[in-house]
Amino acid sequence: MGSKKVQELVQSNEEVPHKYIWRDTEYGPIDVTAATLSGEIPVIDLSRLISSSAEAAMDIAELNKLQSALITWGCFQAINHGIEDSFLDELRRVSRNFFQLPVMEKQKYDRPVDGIEGYGSDMVLFENQSLDWNDRLYLLVSPKDQRKLEYWPENPENFRKILDDYTGSLRQILELILKAIARSLSLPEKCFLDQFGERPTMYGRFNYYPPCSRPDTVLGLKPHADGSGITILLQDEEVEGLQMLKDDRWYRVPIMPHALVVNVGDQLEIMSNGIIKSPMHRAVTNSVRERNTLAMFCAPDPELEIGPVNELVDDDTRRRLYKKVRNYPEIFFQYYQQGKRPIEAVRI
Ligand code: OGA
Ligand code: NI
Repeated sequence: MGSKKVQELVQSNEEVPHKYIWRDTEYGPIDVTAATLSGEIPVIDLSRLISSSAEAAMDIAELNKLQSALITWGCFQAINHGIEDSFLDELRRVSRNFFQLPVMEKQKYDRPVDGIEGYGSDMVLFENQSLDWNDRLYLLVSPKDQRKLEYWPENPENFRKILDDYTGSLRQILELILKAIARSLSLPEKCFLDQFGERPTMYGRFNYYPPCSRPDTVLGLKPHADGSGITILLQDEEVEGLQMLKDDRWYRVPIMPHALVVNVGDQLEIMSNGIIKSPMHRAVTNSVRERNTLAMFCAPDPELEIGPVNELVDDDTRRRLYKKVRNYPEIFFQYYQQGKRPIEAVRI
């Protein structure tokens, strides 16, 4: 199995193994240089989208901007989200420090063969799969009582505390964003929030992309859409790498050091009856610099049934496009394993 960490490959100075060379051309060649389109990913000021009362207090212009961001891109960069710059810097520092620990130390948190949480590399799920140039630490962070602390690093010392604090902040931001998204689509404010339930699931994925000698043919993350409701990503503050697919072209997501990149996941696409789409995205590699990111996948409680909100289904003009589902992540995994786009499983 391809369980060797990419970091270990790099340290032993091996040539890039064949398995990492990207072969599928379904989404076009890697062509890093062609994806020079940038500066178009919308930037949304979250402080203008806070409704303190039940009355409309959100800034209409910003809501319109959000609506257009969602419909055109399925993603945006969020600024003025309320988390201190210094906190995000500290979070990045402890994340980076974890991957810098000696191999032996990190192995304590290794993902078991039959598990999903822990420290590991790309899982081999189907034949002929090209592997991602990426090691990751994957942890369920919410609900709190489902955490498996044995996978939470104790070193760096403040790792657990920082991750716990960050989870708390993102819970609030998640709520704010879900309400704003509903409002921007002229829907009842809580229509998405209610589907997430009282106990939404949040997984943190700490991504580590070592430098790669073949950025022309190796991807950090292969093209995919997230199975979440929404994903909130903290990018590396210096090394770019994330790209979004729009109208069959790849667009770079430029670095804004203290912004959070928010993208729609499949489950919000389902709830919106396809009005907003979960965008395909990928991460490219860099030949000299390592890159660290933290993706937080926020999703409805898997025990709850989700489906298109009533207001967006209409027999005449907008028929129901997705089935109701429970535990989408399980469906996601099965389809993904077959090399299919998981959302196809629930499309009517
Ligand atoms: C992910 C993801 C992007 C990045 O973890 O699903 O898309 O830039 N990450 O690390
Ligand atoms: Ni992703």
